[in-house]
Amino acid sequence: MKLRSALLFFAFVLLIVQSVSARADLSIIPQPKRIERGEGAFTLDKTTSIQAPVGRRAAEIVRFFADNLKEQTGITLAKSGVGSRIVFRIDKMIAGEEGYRIVVSNRRINVAARTDKGLFWAVQTLRQLIPAGKAQAVAIPAVTIEDAPEFSYRGHMLDVGRHFFPVEFIKKQIDLLSYYKINTFRWHLTEDQGWRIEIKKYPNLTKVGAWRTEADGTRYGGFYTQDQIRDVVEYARIRNITVIPEIEMPGHSMAALVAYPEFSCRMKPIEVTPEWGVHKDVFCAGNDGTFTFLQDVLDEVIALFPSNYIHIGGDEVPKDRWHECLKCQLRIKNEGLKDEHELQSYFIKRLQSYLAKKGKTLIGWDEILEGGADKNAVIEVWRGDAEAAKALANGNRVIMAGPFYFDTPLQSKTLKDVYQTDLLSLPQYRENRKLLLGAEAPLWTERVTTVNAESKLYPRLQAFAEITWTGKRGDLVDFKRRMAEHYRYLDALAVAYGPEDRAIANYKISFDSAKRVWRLDAAGGFDDIVFRYTTDGAEPSTDSSAFKNSIEFTRPSAIKAAPFRRGRKYELSKPFTLVANKALGKPVKFANPVDKRYNKAGEMALTDGILGSGDFSDGIWAGWQGADLDATIDLGERSSINSIAANFMQQSGSWIVLPRTVTFYSSDDGENWTELQNTETKADAMDMSSAIRTINFASERPISARFVRVKAVQFGKLPPGHNGAGGDSWIFADEIIIK
Ligand code: ACM
Ligand code: ZN
Repeated sequence: MKLRSALLFFAFVLLIVQSVSARADLSIIPQPKRIERGEGAFTLDKTTSIQAPVGRRAAEIVRFFADNLKEQTGITLAKSGVGSRIVFRIDKMIAGEEGYRIVVSNRRINVAARTDKGLFWAVQTLRQLIPAGKAQAVAIPAVTIEDAPEFSYRGHMLDVGRHFFPVEFIKKQIDLLSYYKINTFRWHLTEDQGWRIEIKKYPNLTKVGAWRTEADGTRYGGFYTQDQIRDVVEYARIRNITVIPEIEMPGHSMAALVAYPEFSCRMKPIEVTPEWGVHKDVFCAGNDGTFTFLQDVLDEVIALFPSNYIHIGGDEVPKDRWHECLKCQLRIKNEGLKDEHELQSYFIKRLQSYLAKKGKTLIGWDEILEGGADKNAVIEVWRGDAEAAKALANGNRVIMAGPFYFDTPLQSKTLKDVYQTDLLSLPQYRENRKLLLGAEAPLWTERVTTVNAESKLYPRLQAFAEITWTGKRGDLVDFKRRMAEHYRYLDALAVAYGPEDRAIANYKISFDSAKRVWRLDAAGGFDDIVFRYTTDGAEPSTDSSAFKNSIEFTRPSAIKAAPFRRGRKYELSKPFTLVANKALGKPVKFANPVDKRYNKAGEMALTDGILGSGDFSDGIWAGWQGADLDATIDLGERSSINSIAANFMQQSGSWIVLPRTVTFYSSDDGENWTELQNTETKADAMDMSSAIRTINFASERPISARFVRVKAVQFGKLPPGHNGAGGDSWIFADEIIIK
């Protein structure tokens, strides 16, 4: 190749590379409806000025843009202009309340929208067109963007009841929601485990109801003052986000009933519960005082939240108390209701008409369809398509939440799963398109705190933002290409986003009976994760000892391990309790095999010296369904035995019930057995509280034996009234301790 043609060829390659990168640098999320690239670029620098329509909101939007531009690039815009110009205007020809058009040319950016809402979203798109990093001048590629969302309701719900999140955390998330054009923040403010909103007329709601005693005896809680709430609502308004409060009723309201027991059926004092799940104490529907109280509360809520919608919960309402309550039964009779389901419907409708008088529309979870729902209520569907179909058939407007529960582990609901969710999967959805307002991604926080919330939200929330904006499943490869740019943005904001399809931390713990050490293997969802641990019960911190993949422990101890990334704890810590005893590492013969789905330690399932945690699926508990536990331990030689203990779990909601009896035996030959103790547990499958029970045998004098046998007889069929009635119960056991 001659020099000239070589140069020409080189220039040609450069041209291709340039045009490819010029196309590739547009990484807008959510993807706009139409993007058309032009020639050249607009140069934004300190001579650039902005022209905006008159009006308070437009001025605010321009200020938001200018402030963020300065923060992002360091560039201060000119007050008035001889230089390039950005012109915002209202144009009633633009389609959609939130729609906008941006035309970037060499000397001018024209932004047009039908309303202020569209103008604001245009600003968020402009921000995504501006390269990150400080600069004297930035080039915005010439482009025409026409955009509008497909769904009008694009929401994220945060449960601040199970765990409390500070205002600063919430504002950071509101910034991110807004950046991705999510227009609704749903604030789940009340729960069984905590009431989080100050109500002036009922101070005990927060004085008492915002605080609980945890299983370990510590106090936990917090609430938002009305000033803080106004501050968040205003912060969100500036960012085009409506905050919709949720005040749970008649269920999930124990914290309120702790503060004001007079509005419960039994009218007896109860405690704020630290236990997750569904609780039986609910607001009394027979007491008119309950409605006065709730209306008073809603009056203060309405004064704080300008939103047209108020969410009243309405989910998971056990009818037990209403069934036993004279006042509730009298209400059923006097109102001519058929049963407790119709009483729930009465309850909701009564508050709905109160809200309607105040100009507010009620949203409730799909259970409010039970016993009949008013057509004007908006139904938030979480239990599945059948509920959505029921709501649509009834003529209700619908918000879809079920597919977007972001408390679901990252590996079970991957980025791809979220991105490929079809919001119009059923014919009913397409036929009732107008009733389908949009979708919401809730984050329930039983196992979520500020440590791991962001990893559960991002990047799944970007995928959610895109499919609710565009209304369709897009090109996953292109979405991931754009997401790569956005990770840089999230990094700059110190957002602790999660992996796309893997858990942040996976642990495997085992006892090596040859080396007589415990080995903890850990795998991080990112390559730059390190694990830190403590052995003194303290929470691991950035100062705690670190390991990358694996660590051995030679002594029994209470270990806590947690993954860290970039100097920050990334997931809640996990405890491992290691204990020594005579059975440690001794093989066990099981008459009935251990269910491999819950425990893979085989013949060491009950003798690995690792105690099961409160979580039956921690891989340490061993389970048997419809069969007895019958374990024979060979100590290898005649040994002196003072005590034998075994732990069993009760968690009947998950069909795990204490065995009916537990019997310990000893033997010298493994054939002829001496019964040492037989214990009746009085197992009750209808006891829904979670507990671990230790069955202990202590001998007055040491026993000499080589073999120990533990037999636990299963509860059997689950009784009528149980959620698994007629099914076989499970035994969950761990560990057998011989001393
Ligand atoms: C819900 O998940 N109970 C709405
Ligand atoms: Zn009652």
